[in-house]
Amino acid sequence: DKGGHRHFMAKEIHEQPAVIDACLSHYLDGDTVRLREGEIDFSGVDRIVMVACGTASYACHVAKYWFEQIARVPVEVDVASEFRYREPPLSDRTLAIFVSQSGETADTLAALRYASGKAQILSIVNVDTSSIARESDVALPILAGVEIGVASTKAFTCQLTVLALLALKAGADRGTLTAEDGKAHVEALRKMPALVSQALAVEDRIEDIARSLAEARDVLFLGRGAMYPLALEGALKLKEISYIHAEGYASGELKHGPIALVDESVPIIVLAPRDHLFGKTVSNMQEVMARGGRVVLISDGDGLAAESAAWRTVEMPRAPAIWAPILYAVPAQMLAYHTAIAKGTDADQPRNLAKSVTVE
Ligand code: M6R
Repeated sequence: DKGGHRHFMAKEIHEQPAVIDACLSHYLDGDTVRLREGEIDFSGVDRIVMVACGTASYACHVAKYWFEQIARVPVEVDVASEFRYREPPLSDRTLAIFVSQSGETADTLAALRYASGKAQILSIVNVDTSSIARESDVALPILAGVEIGVASTKAFTCQLTVLALLALKAGADRGTLTAEDGKAHVEALRKMPALVSQALAVEDRIEDIARSLAEARDVLFLGRGAMYPLALEGALKLKEISYIHAEGYASGELKHGPIALVDESVPIIVLAPRDHLFGKTVSNMQEVMARGGRVVLISDGDGLAAESAAWRTVEMPRAPAIWAPILYAVPAQMLAYHTAIAKGTDADQPRNLAKSVTVE
């Protein structure tokens, strides 16, 4: 049942406010994060390694910024296919976190088995009866409900929600987050479902932009800070379902190579909430515009269009900078979806891809 939508992907994008809300309710007890599935005490952890594939690995990349900033604990992120063969050193003070929607991804499961017995094993899964959940010390559900579209959408934002809450717990356990700041973060996270709901209103604007994107051969996505992994995610989503070549870059890396690709034919999607890095991103944007690049600026604040001189702008609701990746996932998903619609490709069942990758 597509709930009145043309595709499961569209339905799943629109379900995000409700599932993020359910996820927050499951883990929050007033202002406190409670893990009903088992205790993790971050005060004894000296290093976190996060392992996943595809979209789930981008959720880990975002969470690295959160864990490091809030809990001051070093975090490494690896794709599972690299982690498992590299045989990295682990200790009983290492917390290894495996993130997987299906809980059956072969490389992620093999990486978990490598870490098992060496480090503490935490998994974050959508299917709580899955192999990855069963083989973990603690398995936390993301409560996204069944995800059918091959392109992961609501699982990504629910993974981010669980990881955000875990980062707050880590900060509290390690004494790097005051009770007052923790409370303020919880209040901000509780507002995310309503903000994501408002963000869904950018759909008409995105649909219009997507009609031009459908003509492109290459698309670049740029972001800074925790928005950098969102740029990677936006690019993956677009290639996956519209078959347009797309790359995500950290905005500051532009002049170290990718700017050579820029001309009038290359749309550049800039994911840049107004945070302390906004000014830097604007100057990166000006560099590409000076070379004829067509910039789509996704940001917040009045007068975006006039102020930025970008080719197209998408105005987002304002959110606390730290949690903005949860919100900006929405326009990234919608851009991919509507570009696929404009091109006539199958958004739910893209060629060559399976929902669950159970072979290496
Ligand atoms: O089930 P998993 O979360 O372990 O799957 C990981 C990737 O295969 C998955 O996220 C893939 O990248 C998606 N199709 C992206 O939309």
